[in-house]
Amino acid sequence: MVYEATVSAPVNIACIKYWGKRDTKLIIPTNSSLSITLSQDHLRSTTTCRADPRFERGDRLWLNGKEEVIKENGRTWVCIEELRRWRRAMEEKDKKLPELSEMPLRIASYNNFPTAAGLASSASGLAALVSSLSTLFSLPQTPSQLSLIARQGSGSACRSLFGGFVAWREGLASDGSDSMAQQVAPETHWPEMQALICVVSDQKKATSSTAGMQATVETSALFRQRLQVVPSRMDAIESAIKQKDFESFAKITMADSNTFHACCLDTTPPIFYMNDVSRSIIQLIEQLNKANGKPLAAYTFDAGPNAVIYTLDKYMPVVIKAVQRFFPPAQDLEDRLNVMPAVEKAGFPMMFDESKVVKWEKGAVKGLIHTTVGDGPRVMAREEGLLNEVGEPK
Ligand code: DP6
Repeated sequence: MVYEATVSAPVNIACIKYWGKRDTKLIIPTNSSLSITLSQDHLRSTTTCRADPRFERGDRLWLNGKEEVIKENGRTWVCIEELRRWRRAMEEKDKKLPELSEMPLRIASYNNFPTAAGLASSASGLAALVSSLSTLFSLPQTPSQLSLIARQGSGSACRSLFGGFVAWREGLASDGSDSMAQQVAPETHWPEMQALICVVSDQKKATSSTAGMQATVETSALFRQRLQVVPSRMDAIESAIKQKDFESFAKITMADSNTFHACCLDTTPPIFYMNDVSRSIIQLIEQLNKANGKPLAAYTFDAGPNAVIYTLDKYMPVVIKAVQRFFPPAQDLEDRLNVMPAVEKAGFPMMFDESKVVKWEKGAVKGLIHTTVGDGPRVMAREEGLLNEVGEPK
């Protein structure tokens, strides 16, 4: 009997950012956040877990084929041990169950996109780890309960346990027992919503989110003001999503990205995640929105220079056309939705003032990924497993 499970998990990009912890060990955030889950057809982490009593003692983990040390009391270790504890509780109640909680584990994880490209690989990676282990252990816990564990691996990972539109409620309890993710609306709710990822840099970021947010908490006065506005933004964006009110959604998303980066700048020493290309992308979207009379797209930036532009299907061709005009990408568009014929035909809004936007040389934006809102973790078939017979990466 082979005990093995393979699960893939999606990337999520926040519209209301998580930035700051009130408990750094348990990863309890200083504010609630809200994200959109992107389609796994484009971006995903896949993880295989296997339990086998014949494995040498001690768990082992490979990330993109390279072995990583599982540090005792480190984040990955905590996730594995918490899930083991839940499995052990099941085994104690039902003595017929195989004692998977006693067996060493072999875990292989693979991202189909560059790690640390500012594309939240830790979120999809930790979500895939938690989902595959809970599948292996046949745990009865709900995705929200599993999000309590994923959160301790990497805060934003808790939101990747759901598809669609997802809130992470900060919670009140000091042990983090109510700091969990919850689906606000499923991926089918607003099928017109799409995303365009503009890869400005695929280099590893200079300041990690973990270090950056703690520096902000400790030194920024503006950050304390942000905490006052987040609750009303959460309410407003949730109702915008429920009512499919793109205009409100876009305004709140852009405002929160800008507030977040302002807090980074207000940190001592200041943290710069956006660069000149990022700021030109902001300029472009602002000009398009102005010319259109109301927002047709919303930009948001995480802890890096890459832009994610949310827009509706009807506006996507003009957004792609504009980005390609001002930031001729080094690579072809990753276009699995066959949008290019519509891009060729698209025209800019009448009032669009091209002179207000900086035009960059080819390659300032490396690549564009056009994608949709997607589902939560997917359990994969046996054949998709990433481990070979002896429990090492294939
Ligand atoms: C800017 O989840 O990577 O992407 O909890 O320390 O692992 P840790 O941080 P992480 O931070 C993500 C920050 C963000 C905003 C967001 O995704 O909400």
